[in-house]
Amino acid sequence: MKCIVLFFLIVVAAISTEAVTFTKCQLVHELRNHGFPENKLRDWVCLIQNESGGTTSKVGKVNKNGSRDYGLFQINDKYWCSNTSTPGKDCNVTCAQVLTDDISKASACAKKIYKRHGFNAWYGWRNHCQGSLPDISSC
Ligand SMILES: *[C@@H]1O[C@H](CO)[C@@H](O)[C@H](O)[C@H]1NC(C)=O
Ligand SMILES: *[C@@H]1O[C@H](CO)[C@@H](O)[C@H](O)[C@H]1NC(C)=O
Ligand SMILES: *[C@@H]1O[C@H](CO)[C@@H](O)[C@H](O)[C@H]1NC(C)=O
Ligand SMILES: *[C@@H]1O[C@H](CO)[C@@H](O)[C@H](O)[C@H]1NC(C)=O
Repeated sequence: MKCIVLFFLIVVAAISTEAVTFTKCQLVHELRNHGFPENKLRDWVCLIQNESGGTTSKVGKVNKNGSRDYGLFQINDKYWCSNTSTPGKDCNVTCAQVLTDDISKASACAKKIYKRHGFNAWYGWRNHCQGSLPDISSC
C-alpha cells in the first residue's frame, strides 16, 4: 500500500513538473485562446519561437545586468515578475507563475509589456521578426 501511494506521488510530481514545448500550431491555438489578436499572431509566434523555442518552463541564463528571463515570453524579473515567492513587480506575479503550462498569467503579463513598449521590448522579435514571419495559414 505504501508503495502504491509513493508511486502515485512520484507520478504526480513528474507530471506537474513536466515541461510543455508547443509546436507552431499549438502556439497559435494557445494564443487565440488567450485573446491575442489575429493580425498579430504571426509576430507573437515568431517572438516566442526565438525567445523560448515554445517551452513554457524555460528559464534564461543570467543577463549581463543580473536579471533573468522566464517562460514562453522570457519575461524579465527586473521589472515584470518577482523572483520571490510573493507576486509582485509590474505584472504582479511571481516568476514561477509565468513558467506554467497554463499560459494565462504569462499571456496577461506579455500583453502588458506589449502595451507599454510594443514588440520592441523583445530582442527575439527585434532581431528575427521584422522580415519574414512564420506561415500559420495551416493552423
Ligand atoms: C534566437 O536567436 C539567436 C540569435 O540572435 C540565437 O542565438 C538563438 O539560438 C535563437 N533562439 C532560439 C530558441 O531559436
Ligand atoms: C537587463 O538585460 C535584459 C536582457 O539583456 C533586458 O531585457 C533588461 O531590460 C535589462 N534591464 C536593465 C535594467 O538594464
Ligand atoms: C532576483 O532578481 C534580482 C533582480 O534581477 C536579483 O538581483 C536577485 O539576485 C534575484 N534573486 C534570486 C533569488 O534569484
Ligand atoms: C496582486 O495580486 C494579488 C493576488 O495574487 C492581489 O491580492 C493583489 O491585490 C494584487 N496587487 C495589485 C497591486 O494589483
